[in-house]
Amino acid sequence: MASLFRCTASKLPSTQFLRHSSLGKNLAVVSSFFSSSSSHNAIRNVTVIGSGLMGAGIAQVAAATNHQVTMVDQTNAILTKSLRSIEKSLGKVAKKKFKDDPEGEKQFVTDTMSRIHIATEPTTNIAETDLLIEAIVENMRTKHKLFTELDKAASSHTIFASNTSSLPIGEIASITKRKDRFGGLHFFNPVPLMKLVEVIRIPETTDETFDALFQFSKELGKVPVSCKDTPGFIVNRLLVPYIMESIRMLERGDASAKDIDTAMKLGAGYPMGPLELADYVGLDTTKFIIDGWHEKYPDVPLFNPSEIMNDLVARNKLGRKTGEGFYKYD
Ligand code: CAA
Ligand code: NAD
Repeated sequence: MASLFRCTASKLPSTQFLRHSSLGKNLAVVSSFFSSSSSHNAIRNVTVIGSGLMGAGIAQVAAATNHQVTMVDQTNAILTKSLRSIEKSLGKVAKKKFKDDPEGEKQFVTDTMSRIHIATEPTTNIAETDLLIEAIVENMRTKHKLFTELDKAASSHTIFASNTSSLPIGEIASITKRKDRFGGLHFFNPVPLMKLVEVIRIPETTDETFDALFQFSKELGKVPVSCKDTPGFIVNRLLVPYIMESIRMLERGDASAKDIDTAMKLGAGYPMGPLELADYVGLDTTKFIIDGWHEKYPDVPLFNPSEIMNDLVARNKLGRKTGEGFYKYD
């Protein structure tokens, strides 16, 4: 675990340290240590808010491509868990990247981890941040509250982006005074492996901002595509109704969960069946998406909620992240 916390003090002119109770390690909460970018388009310092499934993955790929990353979440316990999962994932990536080079493998993981700095306060390092990516819970009110605070604290050059799955970027941006520097950056789970990023602009987004987001996605080794600010953009507009149809199939008793998943894997060549995928995405997130769309478009049957899913979420069976959803996980 030692390499997790190599946020080198020598790099940090003004650093406060928190003592982490369970690990007894120094968790760096840094007030000012990044060199700010001089050019508007050069994204070097990235803040990622939310360190769950998506935020941890985004922080990982940004740090692995030489960006300084501040990863924020609500508690140090959550952040510590996220750092562990990043290190584990980096280990897998490094094994492939540095075949027969154990030293290179180790160095890659250590160097990448040293570029990730953690904080529980969203405005930590905000003055130096070139790009802020929000990856918190899929709830408009919570996102608005966060962006209101960040908009006041951030530098005028900072670009804001949301990784939302289903909420309109224009509505998220509406409470800020930087709609020209606001866009959607929609990554896919698992971020280290999935090549796509959907880059969304709203009418106010400047070409400079859009180009910076597009270029940043490429720097991460991803393939960006653009899409209008429409519900679910490209992928989720197709994928989420498909997942919901598979749950309705299960509810009707047409086939078992296992057979639905096997059928789509072997009959359509998908890497995961739809119910496995719902567990992978998180049933809470899937429910947030479908509930939001149902409320907005009550006449679209594809967006109808599901009783089985509501019940699983009510019992905190959220899929892989809690150890049980449609399936049980070790
Ligand atoms: N980090 C790094 N490496 C990882 C990893 C991770 N998080 N997860 C898996 N790997 C590696 C494994 O170590 C393995 O490496 P080797 O080839 O060296 O053994 C390799 O990737 C394959 O992994 P697995 O053998 O465990 O499993 P798999 O072959 O089934 O692949 C998968 C895993 C890539 C996730 C694949 O199942 C898949 O593509 N699933 C579909 C994912 C998908 O559709 N994502 C989109 C969800 S929707 C979304 O994200 C948008 C939204 O807003 C909701
Ligand atoms: P998650 O539940 O795994 O993680 C969310 C994290 O945000 C948690 O760690 C939580 O503690 C933290 N958080 C909540 N409120 C916060 C706040 N005010 N300040 C700081 N941290 C806060 O969720 P996720 O799956 O990572 O999803 C995050 C976002 O990404 C959502 O908007 C979701 O729709 C979107 N998304 C999810 C997926 C997916 O497959 N799960 C894919 C693409 C996009």
